[in-house]
Amino acid sequence: MFLKGKFALVTGSSRGIGRGIALKLAEKGATIAINYLKEEEAAYDTLAKVKERGAEGIVIQADVSKPEELTAMLNRVHKEFGALDIFVNNALGDLLGFMIPPLQVTLSQWDEAFQVQSRAFLVGVQQAVGQMRSGGRILAISYWPGSHAGGFLPYFAMGANKAALEAMCRYFAVALAPKGITVNALCAGITDDSIVNALPKEAHEAMLSWLKQGWTPMGRPGTPADIGGAVAALCSEEAGWITGQTIVADGGASLMNPEVPLDFQRP
Ligand SMILES: NC(=O)c1ccc[n+]([C@@H]2O[C@H](COP(=O)([O-])OP(=O)(O)OC[C@H]3O[C@@H](n4cnc5c(N)ncnc54)[C@H](OP(=O)(O)O)[C@@H]3O)[C@@H](O)[C@H]2O)c1
Repeated sequence: MFLKGKFALVTGSSRGIGRGIALKLAEKGATIAINYLKEEEAAYDTLAKVKERGAEGIVIQADVSKPEELTAMLNRVHKEFGALDIFVNNALGDLLGFMIPPLQVTLSQWDEAFQVQSRAFLVGVQQAVGQMRSGGRILAISYWPGSHAGGFLPYFAMGANKAALEAMCRYFAVALAPKGITVNALCAGITDDSIVNALPKEAHEAMLSWLKQGWTPMGRPGTPADIGGAVAALCSEEAGWITGQTIVADGGASLMNPEVPLDFQRP
């Protein structure tokens, strides 16, 4: 229970990875603000699961792509908790709506990705820091292949924003070091029970079987609890010297070499 007495806000924590993060932080004793956009029932289900773990929490509806709603959410957190120790920028946005290759993406799709990812992180951090205490932790959830590779063309707008989030973490880390707050990007690998499950069945199954064949050395996709575990570790007191880093939690998937046949890469 190393997070007992700590207060956390996890954006987009009604479902998927955000829920996994909220539940792991709750398991470690933190009080959680659960944010959602549309799925109220799922958000209250997350709250019930937080309580099953012996922790407390609140539910807040807010669209993180709208600065005024993000600000109102942080004001509510301040009113209810009085302080904030952990801010996790996780909310996804309508990914399937802006999954368009670079030569076809429209300006409105590009802007939508920016508003829900980089701009939400900027506004969220600016609004959160005033109530954050020394020892605070800020995390942005990213995706390593999206921010470093270029093969999956429809991921263009999201990938550019994930790269921006990682860069923003470095600048925020320097700006917030005097306050004793660390800022890191945590890259999740392909995770089951998330947006991946909303893909067409064939695409979903093909991705999972690809990972299981060995392209993830651990032989399986991640789970929201895996990512929650990595976030909780970064929120521990012992992680207080880690800041401005991009850390990958993907079962080793990013270690594989796409130029070499898989059979040559088996242990
Ligand atoms: N899934 C993966 O394999 C994977 C891999 C690497 C990184 N990531 C990153 O992990 C994060 C979570 O993805 P996920 O796969 O867990 O997504 P998900 O299962 O689709 O869940 C999305 C969450 O974000 C919320 N949300 C969506 N738009 C929002 C908005 N405008 N304002 C506030 N909340 C909003 C949703 O709320 P409602 O329930 O109300 O709709 C839901 O709680 C994203 O940043 C994603 O890029 C995912």
